[in-house]
Amino acid sequence: MEKMDVVIKGKCFVDGQLAQRCIGVKDGRIVAVRADLDGERVFDYGHKLVLPAAIDAHVHMRDPGATHKEDFGTGSLSALHGGVTCILDMPNSDPPTTTAAALREKASIAASKSLVDFGLFAGITPGCDVELLSSSGAVGFKLYMAGTTGNLQVSSLEAVREELEAVAASGKALAVHAEDEGLRIKGAESSLGDHLRNRPNECETSAIRKLGESGVGGLRTHICHVSAKESLPLLEGMPNITSEVTPHHLLLDMDSKLEGFGKVNPPLRRRGDRQALFNALKEGTLDIIASDHAPHTTEEKEEDFDFAPSGIPGVETLAPLMLQLVRDKHIPLSRFVSGVCERPADIFGLNKGRLELQRDADIMVVDMMDSTEIRADRLHSKCAWTPYERLSGIFPKAVFLRGKIMMEDGTQVGERAGREVVEREKSRGIAGD
Ligand code: NCD
Ligand code: ZN
Repeated sequence: MEKMDVVIKGKCFVDGQLAQRCIGVKDGRIVAVRADLDGERVFDYGHKLVLPAAIDAHVHMRDPGATHKEDFGTGSLSALHGGVTCILDMPNSDPPTTTAAALREKASIAASKSLVDFGLFAGITPGCDVELLSSSGAVGFKLYMAGTTGNLQVSSLEAVREELEAVAASGKALAVHAEDEGLRIKGAESSLGDHLRNRPNECETSAIRKLGESGVGGLRTHICHVSAKESLPLLEGMPNITSEVTPHHLLLDMDSKLEGFGKVNPPLRRRGDRQALFNALKEGTLDIIASDHAPHTTEEKEEDFDFAPSGIPGVETLAPLMLQLVRDKHIPLSRFVSGVCERPADIFGLNKGRLELQRDADIMVVDMMDSTEIRADRLHSKCAWTPYERLSGIFPKAVFLRGKIMMEDGTQVGERAGREVVEREKSRGIAGD
C-alpha cells in the first residue's frame, strides 16, 4: 500500500458506527479507511473519537458592512475552535448579497480572510438574476418572509414567483426565514416576553403553510431555525421540505434571564416549544442543527430592549453544546453527526460531512470525557459574549481542514486556507451549474 500524506488514527465514525480505524489522506481527500495505514505524518488519537468536522449552514459573518461585529477572519477562527470547517454565510450583509457583483466581492473578501471553507447564500429580491447568481457561485438562496436584521424581506411569495421558479431550475436549495410579516405585532417591547408576543407561534406556522401552498414545482425548500411546536406536525406532512433547528431554540427560552442578549428572530419561545423541538430532533423530524451565528456588539445588546438588534452568536458553541447532549444521553452520536455533518452536506451539495472515500478530509477529534465550562472570554468571535455562559460543552481537541491540521488543544496551528466550496466543485466539474 502506498504511503499516505496524512494518517489520522482513532475511534472513527464510519458508515454509522464507531470503529478503531486509520483515515488515509492524499491531496486533502480521504483515500483509504483501514485498520492500518502508513503515512508521511501520522496522528494517533488512541481511543478518542474521530468524527467528520461540523458544517454550520447558517452564519452571518457581517463582512462586508458590519465588521465591527464580526469579519471572516474572527468568525472563521471562532468556527475552527468549535470544530466547524465549513460555514454557509447569509446574504443580509451590507451591501446585501443579491447581485453577482456583491457575491463575488464577498467571495474575494472571504477567500482572503477565512480559516475554514465557506459557501455564500444569495438573497432573493424581486428582479434578482437567479441564474447569474447561481453561476456566480451561490451555494444556495435565502428568502426572508419577514423583517429582521438587514431588511431583505419580500412583500409576498407571489412577488418573487419567477425568481423562485428560477431557484427550482438551478437545483439549489432555498433556505427560508419563515415568519409571516403580516402576523407580526408591531407594539413596543421591553422584554423577551414582549418580543415573543410580537412574533407569535402563528407567525411561523402561517409562513410554513404559505410555502407549502406556493406550488413552485421542484423547489427544494429548507426552513431555517424552526422554533414553534405547532410547526412540527406541518413539517411532518411536507416530506420534500428540509428543516433546521438552532441550539438557542433547543436550550434557551423566554424565561432565560438574558434581556436583550436573548433577543433573536424567530424569538425564544416557551418551555413547551423547546421540549417539542428536542423530541423532534431525536425523532428526525428536524434535519439539521445550525447556529444562526448572528453577532451584535455588547453595547448594541445593552441598549433599550426595543432598540437592541436581534441575533445571537453561536458558531463556536454549536458542536460543543450538541456533543454535551450526546454525552448526557439526550441524543445519540449518530443524530449529532447527521445533524451537523451529513445532512447539511446533502442539502447544500457539499463534498464534506462523512468519513468516506473521496470526501474532503475535514475531521474533528473529540474526547467525550472532557467537558469544559463555556466562557465568553475563551471564545473567538469579535462580539465577545455568549448566551451559554457557564453551560458545559465538549470542544474538539484537534480539527483538520482537507487533511491539514488547523487547530490543536485550543490553539490555531495551520495557516489560513479557507476556500469557497462551490468554486472548487466547479473547477472539478461536478457542480450543478
Ligand atoms: C439575524 C441577523 O442578525 O443577521 N438575526 C436574527 O435574529 N436571527 C437575521 C436573521 O437571520 O433573522
Ligand atoms: Zn440568520
